[in-house]
Amino acid sequence: MKEDALRGKMGFVRGQTALGRRGRAGASTRLDTRHIHYATSPWWPHTLVAADAGRGQVLVRGALPLLYEKGRVMKIIKAKDYEDMSRKAANIISAQVILKPDCVLGLATGSTPIGAYKQLAAWYEKGDVDFAEVSTYNLDEYRGLSHDDPQSYHYFMRENFFDHINIDLNNTYVPDGSNPDAAAACSEYDKIVAAAGYPDLQLLGIGNNGHIGFNEPDDHFSKGTHCVDLTESTIQANSRLFDSIDDVPRQAYTMGTQTIMYARMILVVANGEAKAQAVHDMCYGPVTPACPASILQLHTNCVVVADEAALSLCE
Ligand code: PGA
Repeated sequence: MKEDALRGKMGFVRGQTALGRRGRAGASTRLDTRHIHYATSPWWPHTLVAADAGRGQVLVRGALPLLYEKGRVMKIIKAKDYEDMSRKAANIISAQVILKPDCVLGLATGSTPIGAYKQLAAWYEKGDVDFAEVSTYNLDEYRGLSHDDPQSYHYFMRENFFDHINIDLNNTYVPDGSNPDAAAACSEYDKIVAAAGYPDLQLLGIGNNGHIGFNEPDDHFSKGTHCVDLTESTIQANSRLFDSIDDVPRQAYTMGTQTIMYARMILVVANGEAKAQAVHDMCYGPVTPACPASILQLHTNCVVVADEAALSLCE
């Protein structure tokens, strides 16, 4: 559906919304609610902000006429290269830990955050940052892999981070991919993350296709932890870490988009040309589940640290 058609249908445009008119309840009552997929604002939970999947598009209008101005919600920090990106990201994470020693960190796997983890471990060795009271909650895990499987994200986190810092492993959580009961594994994880009060800081990588966690492009934004079928593009991208593409698990348990949005601060890291389109769409594209990361435009405290190559389409 074209934006103009949608405007007519919805009866509101940017700047003429309920909140834009100082609280008159307009937009939410005039929406065609048949296709609403994401209906709460992280800032004003009772305000309807997103509507209509239309033909694969969700256009977000209404609740935030000021903050919706592109580029004003997200803070985008340009790094020279991977090293610089990693140091900048590590600086932000260590500031969080220093400010709140018992903070809750949401952590990510993948190649991108490894440099930041290394830097944090080096600062821990020097005595600059202390993880003794920190608890961590990872985004996702492959379904069907045991915690000791070298391809599992449990293993990844120990190898790349936890074994090099003084965190209490009892305070580190990753969805239980070894539990074949998807519904039980996911609801259990939701309870654990909710009991922790959600992350103070959520670290995110971004997939070439715009996924966050394993929330793949879809026609709606997801809520809590759920089991996903990985897309061919993700299987292909992750096959570099396996002996053969056939070894890449086809399913994963992932924190949902809504849970990710509950974090008080979000830090996205991205590097390399292969991420340029996804980074552009995340920051400047329409807010649509076709690019799950685009929802981050609606988070009030989202920082993107990306290198020049990843930001090359954003200039
Ligand atoms: P990558 O993965 O860091 O290995 O590129 C990021 C992601 O898929 O979220």
